[in-house]
Amino acid sequence: MKDLSMLSFTRTRTQQRTNRSLSLSAMDLEDPKKKTNFLGNIIMAAALTALFILMLKQSPSFNTPTQFSRHEAGVTHVLVTGGAGYIGSHAALRLLKDSYRVTIMDNLSRGNLGAIKVLQQLFPQSGRLQFIYADLGDKKSVNKIFSENAFDAVMHFAAVAYVGESTLDPLKYYHNITSNTLVVLEAMAAHGVKTLIYSSTCATYGEPEKMPITEETPQHPINPYGKAKKMAEDIILDFHKNSDMAVMILRYFNVIGSDADGMLGESPRPELREHGRISGACFDAARGIIPGLKVRGTDYKTTDGTCIRDYIDVTDLVDAHVKALEKAKPSHIGVYNVGTGRGRSVKEFVEACKTATGVPIKVDFLPRRPGDYAEVYSDPTKIRSELNWTAKHTNLNESLLIAWTWQKAHLDGYGTPQLMSAQI
Ligand SMILES: NC(=O)c1ccc[n+]([C@@H]2O[C@H](COP(=O)([O-])OP(=O)(O)OC[C@H]3O[C@@H](n4cnc5c(N)ncnc54)[C@H](O)[C@@H]3O)[C@@H](O)[C@H]2O)c1
Repeated sequence: MKDLSMLSFTRTRTQQRTNRSLSLSAMDLEDPKKKTNFLGNIIMAAALTALFILMLKQSPSFNTPTQFSRHEAGVTHVLVTGGAGYIGSHAALRLLKDSYRVTIMDNLSRGNLGAIKVLQQLFPQSGRLQFIYADLGDKKSVNKIFSENAFDAVMHFAAVAYVGESTLDPLKYYHNITSNTLVVLEAMAAHGVKTLIYSSTCATYGEPEKMPITEETPQHPINPYGKAKKMAEDIILDFHKNSDMAVMILRYFNVIGSDADGMLGESPRPELREHGRISGACFDAARGIIPGLKVRGTDYKTTDGTCIRDYIDVTDLVDAHVKALEKAKPSHIGVYNVGTGRGRSVKEFVEACKTATGVPIKVDFLPRRPGDYAEVYSDPTKIRSELNWTAKHTNLNESLLIAWTWQKAHLDGYGTPQLMSAQI
């Protein structure tokens, strides 16, 4: 979406062209008998043109680029790719609250225009937030956007992000995650954008035997989603060897929760529900959209026999992004796990979900699902000591209650998107 001053400039130039063609055709049709007036007409046209150019030059949009297209001392302009999505919209909200200038770029293939509208209503002032509808797979458009905007940093969230879907459609994942990250990185390099915060995942570790997972744990991803993210990380790491870019790679664990003020929430497309995550399934069960929850595997060597995962609240996660942005240093690359450091069993999660929703959700216990690993949780020591970040919202009941409150108030999510989904 174009900034308003940009639109007025575009219109002014069109008017200029229209005026010129009108005056030419007027001359073409001129009666030869009126040649005596010819000189007068030329003088008049020249005077009008001079006046028009003067007015154009005095218009603020002629001399001053839009606030998004120029760097401004004391203002950090962050490009948030995937900012219409769950985590990206929460990150944009936090950045805007912290006085950053934000451009959201999203193709709305999975995100919600409604989330952008909420942000625009909260921050309507000029130069705070702009939304650009674009597909990161379209290299030409991405380059144009980078050439028209003065970004100081990029938070690259945009991605397809479901493990199950990635096994069914791996090429979509390699294209959307790996190839698009290359497009972003190339645009950043070509346009001198010096800071990158990259959304990675614990899925890049695969099935490590030793818990907790540190940043030194070898990465052996086992599905196309994890592999595509690992490849994107490798591209960034290789590029960084000969670059002074400041890079932070954040490997998230299982993200839950939503904005504590109830402005934003998680609202995946209905067709993606089957690939969905545990909190989405829990809310769907509480709302009666699905008959209940299926817990797969009760004989793991864990405290209650169900799998153990590390659930990180989205408010803490975006806080880690802001800290990473603040601490990013030129020519330095930082890789961090973003988790609580504490594993919770699936049974524990389901109980928290029942408490938060107040619904006695029906639970079926089934045999293990092949490929699921018993226990995954992070060691967050590095991010604590280097970025001074620690998870604060570690009460599952509270995180789920906040998310449930938003869900109940938004039974239709953000409503029907007004733009058609773009191809990924
Ligand atoms: N949600 C989690 O638990 C989790 C865990 C680990 C990592 N991550 C990572 O966090 C990031 C955000 O995930 P999310 O849960 O918010 O997902 P999401 O689907 O809610 O948001 C992704 C956004 O990216 C946009 N997008 C996708 N492809 C695009 C393209 N080609 N061009 C422009 N926009 C595009 C979508 O429209 C959507 O708005 C992803 O990179 C994901 O891999 C998420």
